[in-house]
Amino acid sequence: MSLDARLLTALRGAGADAVSGVELSESLGVTRAAIWARIEELRRLGYEIEASPHRGYRLISAPDLLHADDLLARLGSTRVVGRDIRVFQETTSTNDVVEKFARDGVKEGVVVFAEAQTRGRGRLGRVWVSPARKGLWFSVLLRPPMRPQEATQITIAAGNALARAVKAQTRLPVEIKWPNDLLIRGRKAAGILTELHAELDQVKALILGIGVNVNQTARDFPAELRPLATSLRLEAGQLLDRAGLATAILRALDRDYRRVLDGEFDALVSEWEARCSTLGRRVAIQIGGRRVEGRAESLDSDGALLLRTQHGHLERIIGGDVTMAS
Ligand code: BTN
Repeated sequence: MSLDARLLTALRGAGADAVSGVELSESLGVTRAAIWARIEELRRLGYEIEASPHRGYRLISAPDLLHADDLLARLGSTRVVGRDIRVFQETTSTNDVVEKFARDGVKEGVVVFAEAQTRGRGRLGRVWVSPARKGLWFSVLLRPPMRPQEATQITIAAGNALARAVKAQTRLPVEIKWPNDLLIRGRKAAGILTELHAELDQVKALILGIGVNVNQTARDFPAELRPLATSLRLEAGQLLDRAGLATAILRALDRDYRRVLDGEFDALVSEWEARCSTLGRRVAIQIGGRRVEGRAESLDSDGALLLRTQHGHLERIIGGDVTMAS
């Protein structure tokens, strides 16, 4: 961890108490002057840090920005997801950045956030509108030791983790629409774009791109999206702490990724199914140029949707665009 991450961990760990400069300099192994210089830099970024000659330093508030060291400090230790965090002010798409990391052989677990994306991508070739500092736009690099056919399990696990974390942080009525849209009161608040690099029998890299609409107002959405999309702020009626939400999501992703690798996918599916508004409903699914209709019954052991068609067949669906038929 960098000095700033360790410093923020110490300040956050002290809560409402102050930590003395001597204590910090001893525990972090740097001079008091070095601590002071870092505190000044954090203040310049908007961190409100009280400094008293007798008591020491106390963190009063943090600005609404994503700061890699602070995200690491808030996250604490995770097994894989978030071992390394990078924040860009602007990028084309965080999936592009992580794709490059994957090609360069970077270890799994790295998470790339961008405050804004100029070419955010959604599923099925759609645009993902990603205005500066309004949401969480990030991608996670994973290298699960599995066959490409099983990779849907990771997307299902990610949808489950995302829904659980958003619900815990906001108390909003969160639902999953298959495969992984997060809906609140019927409108989309978050989505996941999974991209895969694989050989025939082995996943090489799986990129989980996650977009969460956090603090947008209605005017931040293009007019054509307003009836379909929402933000957590619009639903909760208040601004949300993006960094706190980000770390809650990363912690949940780390946990559910581990559950998949530990062979606990079945238990995870039960949780996912309880959150899913698609199952048990009559749906129409557009798969490229083909449209199938039927009743969404359940997920199979690889995470594919089992659809009972009008003709009574059980069809296994791994991707597509769902609309509710009734
Ligand atoms: C969807 O269509 O529901 C998926 C949306 C995924 C958006 C995220 S934002 C971070 C990452 N970068 C992208 O370009 N897309 C994903």
